[in-house]
Amino acid sequence: MNDFNYYAPTQVVFGRGVEERAGELVKRYGGKKALLHYGGGSVKRSGLFDRVAASLDAAGIPWVELGGVVPNPRVSKVREGVELCRKEGVDFILAVGGGSVIDSAKAIGYGLAYDGDVWDFYDRKATPKSSYPVGCVLTLAATGSEMSDSNVITNEENGKKRGVNNDLCRCKFALMNPELTFTVPPYQTAAGCADIISHTMERYFSGNEAVEPTDSMSEGLLRSMIEMSKRVMADPRDYEARAAVMWASSLSHNNLTGCGRGGHGRVGDWACHQLEHELSGMFDVTHGAGLAAIWEAWSRYVMPRGVKRFARFARNVMGVAEPDDEKAALAGIEAYKEFLRSISMPTDIRELGVELTDEQIDRLAWNCSFENTRTIGSIRVLDLEDMKEIYRRAR
Ligand code: NZQ
Ligand code: ZN
Repeated sequence: MNDFNYYAPTQVVFGRGVEERAGELVKRYGGKKALLHYGGGSVKRSGLFDRVAASLDAAGIPWVELGGVVPNPRVSKVREGVELCRKEGVDFILAVGGGSVIDSAKAIGYGLAYDGDVWDFYDRKATPKSSYPVGCVLTLAATGSEMSDSNVITNEENGKKRGVNNDLCRCKFALMNPELTFTVPPYQTAAGCADIISHTMERYFSGNEAVEPTDSMSEGLLRSMIEMSKRVMADPRDYEARAAVMWASSLSHNNLTGCGRGGHGRVGDWACHQLEHELSGMFDVTHGAGLAAIWEAWSRYVMPRGVKRFARFARNVMGVAEPDDEKAALAGIEAYKEFLRSISMPTDIRELGVELTDEQIDRLAWNCSFENTRTIGSIRVLDLEDMKEIYRRAR
């Protein structure tokens, strides 16, 4: 087992009606004036925004609002938020929405505590030294941003999508009511499930060594996600299944499934995420669907270096009974691909709606390798040429 530092400081309040506690919790974590941050309007249409605002009013917390966060959130909206918070004297950012809104809120928190341009953090010109506090009311189970140390922002001027990992941005609290996810459309629901599964897989596939009990927890989580994804697709109002998926979202990305597992840089493999972030940065596709589109090409490419791990995944997660490791590994890849199909996720980039040209592949790999200055992945370390090959095989 590798040494590790497990830190998951977010207070999770889970269940029906918990959004009513927003005001009380903003107050508990020191907020005197809040920014209510949200997306394209689903929270207004559902009435959630009004309930959260009423809860702030009841707690005596004044607030201002900023909506309009789009999926793959943009740095321009973050800058607008920083400016508004400065003008209004806001000291707490409350995200009401999915991962994009939470990530935008986290970026506003960084920007507000910094004199320069917030993009400096994403461009690796600066490292956050402090942040304003953020909390969230989660409406979509997917990214795990509600408990993660990361956020991902897109710069629309150059199509670059970049993440920052830092404990400073972790949400002080996450209010998680599974009923709020009943209205998430099927495509976003399925993409969310693919993302959740991927967050555990990225850690599980960091290398060949077994790490108990982390591996057993991961396998249990993956098995239940595969079952519950099918249930939420069949019945979007299945409370138990929505609740299971929502909790799995947090458990998959608060690093519980990474404890003791090694990795290249941070714990985990993360190659699929790095390859996908370039795709959604360039083509504005849905993150979880992008992950699904890359998975088969990535797994077949790296599997020869991780036969034991892929065979274990096949047997313990996908129920493959084959005794030969390599055959089992391949059967597991095929079974997971079938699962993705069963929830209508793409299994290659064309199914994602993108026809990649050779020139675009070169650009994606160039960006993903930070202009040929870094490698990615852990179970198999990938350089610029490997990245191009995986995009080619995935298209
Ligand atoms: O904007 P509104 O109108 O709210 O609609 C949203 C949006 O169109 C809609 N939606 C959300 N909750 C809803 C709902 N519609 C009906 N009912 C509800 N209850 O869903 C659409 C997608 O929302 P978005 O927030 O973009 O989705 P998601 O949560 O998947 O977030 C994706 C972003 O998070 C990043 C991704 O790269 C992407 O930019 N990630 C963030 C991570 C992190 N911070 O730890 C890790 C992930 O790996 C990921 O990279
Ligand atoms: Zn993800």
